[in-house]
Amino acid sequence: MNKKTLDNLKDIEGKKVIVRVDFNVPLDKNGNINDDNRILMALPTIKELLKKGAKLILLSHLGRIKKESDKATKSLKVVAEALNQKLDATVKFVDSTRGVAVDEAVKDLNEGQILMLENTRFEDVQNGEVVNYESKNNPNLAKYWANLGDIFVNDAFGTAHRSHASNVGIANNMKIAVVGRLIELELRMLNKVVNEPKRPLVAIIGGAKVSDKINVIANLLKIADKVLIGGGMSYTFFKSLGKEVGDSLVENDKLSLAKSYLDNDHAGKIELPVDIACVKEFADTKPTYRAIDNISSSEMGLDIGPKTVAKYKKIIESAQTVVWNGPMGVFEFKNFAFGTESICKTIANVGTDKLFSIIGGGDSASAAIKMGFHDKFSYISTGGGASLALLEGKKLPAIEAIHNN
Ligand code: 3PG
Repeated sequence: MNKKTLDNLKDIEGKKVIVRVDFNVPLDKNGNINDDNRILMALPTIKELLKKGAKLILLSHLGRIKKESDKATKSLKVVAEALNQKLDATVKFVDSTRGVAVDEAVKDLNEGQILMLENTRFEDVQNGEVVNYESKNNPNLAKYWANLGDIFVNDAFGTAHRSHASNVGIANNMKIAVVGRLIELELRMLNKVVNEPKRPLVAIIGGAKVSDKINVIANLLKIADKVLIGGGMSYTFFKSLGKEVGDSLVENDKLSLAKSYLDNDHAGKIELPVDIACVKEFADTKPTYRAIDNISSSEMGLDIGPKTVAKYKKIIESAQTVVWNGPMGVFEFKNFAFGTESICKTIANVGTDKLFSIIGGGDSASAAIKMGFHDKFSYISTGGGASLALLEGKKLPAIEAIHNN
């Protein structure tokens, strides 16, 4: 990597260091944190900077703020409290994103202490008006935040595909801007798939829609040896081949695109499911597994079946690298978790000593963690959209904005 890192920072004792983290963690309906993985993964950078005597100013977004009332459930206070419990250092929280309260809190900050500002996306709505100051990288906001500190560390991998004021904007206004340890780790891990995979490289792509994964499938067809398709997007592929898919999810405007992938796949890289879990209505009921040519017009498919699992298992077992993005079925319902869980088990059984396995963040990563497979993969990325963008072969703007080494 040609970007500056924490290794390039000298004499930071007493310096004010602005750290952009991605603490966009899932909250339950009572506002409690459901999964603190993103907080845990940010700790190495935070601890290293504290140890060197820096004063830390943490910035993060939480969710999306589209209207004033969204702010009531999207405060970072709960995250600041959770972080406080994980560290010996004091974590102060200021319920503003700029202004006198922030200026005073920064002035009062001592070495080895942390100040967390309120959700950066609160800047997107001002007095009920949508202004998108954070999301559209407003220059005044970016300058204001940059002026709070001496050094900028971006460790928010999950947000690196966005060009926002709190990442690209600050970096562009600082004399010193480096990446943190999490971004370094993510790039090292994803590089093992995108640039120097041990072959065979098998990509497993699921999720509801072909449209969400068009670009990633296109790029994976170039770099992978096999692309295994699962999840809701399978039915768009089946329908494009003229098969009956009943009431299954289909993107009718993507049929010709799906067909073109299959027609142009001269190397035979794409593998489609051979059997499907079918039900008559969307409810958590026991499915009937049917061969894909036997789906009736009054049924819908919600998961891959055991024959598909057996076929995919063979391919995964012969791989040296596996990258997975998107669940195989509606895993949130126990009757349709079979496919996703079976793929997790297959990868777990091969083991990380024989297979380099990585899950892109988002639904499949949270499924693997919830099903108890968090330590069975070589790496679980903290980035959903960001890891997809890398798999698509794109550059991430928030990393591009960091100074070159
Ligand atoms: C994520 O969860 O993927 C990141 O935090 C980015 O969030 P966003 O999609 O709302 O920009």
